[in-house]
Amino acid sequence: MFNFSPFHCIVFKCVQCVYIFALFISTDPDVHRSFCTFQPLSPKDAVEERLLLDSIAWPETPLLPAPLILEQTSDPAHSTFTILPGRGGRTVGRPKKSGGDLLLARLHNQKLGAGVAGEVVDHLNGSYSAVFSLLWEGDAQVEVTLAHPSEAITVLKRLNSQEPDRIGFKSLFRSGSISETTICNVCLRPTQQPQCNHTDLRTGEPWFCYKPKNLSCDARINQAMTHYKGNLRTNEEKLFQSGVNMKVYIRASGPASVTVESNIVKVGPSGYYYQGVWQALGGTTVRQFNVSAISQCLKGKVVHMHGDSTIRQFFEFLNARLPDLKEFDLHSQSQIGPFMALDYANNILVKFRFHGPPIQSVHVSNSKLRYIANEIDGLIGGTDTVVVFGIWAHFRTYPVQIYIRRLQSIRRAVVQLLDRAPGTLVVIRTGNPRDLSLINSDWHSLQCYKVLRTMFKGLNVHLINAWEMVLAHHLPHNVHPPPPIIKNMINVLLSYTCPQKGG
Ligand SMILES: *[C@@H]1O[C@H](CO)[C@@H](O)[C@H](O)[C@H]1NC(C)=O
Ligand SMILES: *[C@@H]1O[C@H](CO)[C@@H](O)[C@H](O)[C@H]1NC(C)=O
Ligand SMILES: *[C@@H]1O[C@H](CO)[C@@H](O)[C@H](O)[C@H]1NC(C)=O
Ligand SMILES: *[C@@H]1O[C@H](CO)[C@@H](O)[C@H](O)[C@H]1NC(C)=O
Repeated sequence: MFNFSPFHCIVFKCVQCVYIFALFISTDPDVHRSFCTFQPLSPKDAVEERLLLDSIAWPETPLLPAPLILEQTSDPAHSTFTILPGRGGRTVGRPKKSGGDLLLARLHNQKLGAGVAGEVVDHLNGSYSAVFSLLWEGDAQVEVTLAHPSEAITVLKRLNSQEPDRIGFKSLFRSGSISETTICNVCLRPTQQPQCNHTDLRTGEPWFCYKPKNLSCDARINQAMTHYKGNLRTNEEKLFQSGVNMKVYIRASGPASVTVESNIVKVGPSGYYYQGVWQALGGTTVRQFNVSAISQCLKGKVVHMHGDSTIRQFFEFLNARLPDLKEFDLHSQSQIGPFMALDYANNILVKFRFHGPPIQSVHVSNSKLRYIANEIDGLIGGTDTVVVFGIWAHFRTYPVQIYIRRLQSIRRAVVQLLDRAPGTLVVIRTGNPRDLSLINSDWHSLQCYKVLRTMFKGLNVHLINAWEMVLAHHLPHNVHPPPPIIKNMINVLLSYTCPQKGG
């Protein structure tokens, strides 16, 4: 089935053992038009969007019986993986015959602090393969996790297209003594009530609120998240149970370890851990920066951090570690910012600002909400400027087109920045596997990750591949990776900023 050399990679087979109904439907993503209004794209951007959507198209998954019967869905407890060559994977019951489960695979050696992400291939018939690069000598254990069964992804697909407002927002409008609060979102259901169109004029990022009865649209003061609506059909919540069918290890039938014979060609992953330290593949040598080396590296630089709370972690890390970097009190809200820290002696300025809506937060003043593209447009840039951004986690309930368009506008700003100031360093942090729930899916994060990687390929920008850095690590997945992983990410960031001399 694979043209592989046993020295280069390990292939395992994952056998699903569940009963299913032999019912299939064709799921055309455009059949259920959502009430999201998409701005018209230029022909070039429209072609790109089509190609991106095709590239992340998820296999068709079987129609769910209503009400749902859990026993007819992918069941990790009765699934196994087998390291090939070798026989095994004896099945109990009838094996599943379709693909679409989201599996994550990792090869690791805890003693050596080593780990690397595997690439999972879906054969669309209930079996999967994962391919690993073997990058250290010694033992390696294969670990396979079912992030979501295919049936859960069917539900997520439906919700993101038909219920993109299941995380709700509201805005306060106020003028003089009159105030009113109305519902807002990226995608707002059409009703009798007129809407305010708060779409950003420069970037075209959509945002709408129902118009307050007695106030003008311009009277909008703030925004906040209101609620999360499930909107699940009977029993569908059973597809999202931690430890049952969401982020569950799959057993090995037979040995799960292999012995690596030699250090092989470095292809595939963006890096791997060895002794807990991230080793990048593909050109960059990751240096280890202690406190004085960080200050030395950032001396004379301005670091602009833009994005969600996973970028805020970088600000917090530097702010906590560098004794000479002092946070300047901007009287900002905790979590949201903006934040600013200064090392006056070394002339270092580090800034963080949250990305524009949607952000699931407590009340945030409208005047603080800035789109990343507009912020980048405001930068002069140059060799003393580092721009770091990361945007993904707050897009999880929307059709992926919303995310693609956001990245298209950011990319336009990045290209223009690099044109006017070619020495500017631009670093992008991808999304990562996380703690899952009814709204937090690795499926959506993975789509965002793939889209982002493709869209910035070929530009003079650098990636912090958080997807693989979290997947390859032994610590539990969390939207906010724990300090050992952040430390590695900061070392990657600083290695782009201050590459090894003579290397
Ligand atoms: C699934 O497809 C793969 C690749 O085509 C094939 O090697 C394998 O035998 C198939 N498995 C089953 C259970 O049909
Ligand atoms: C909202 O405003 C933008 C910018 O002016 C415009 O392009 C878009 O068509 C408007 N959308 C709706 C639904 O009115
Ligand atoms: C709008 O103004 C009218 C007349 O002053 C008042 O009766 C009504 O309650 C107001 N509506 C809201 C939503 O504040
Ligand atoms: C920090 O690292 C540099 C090498 O990068 C080393 O020369 C220096 O001694 C280290 N400082 C401390 C305090 O460990």
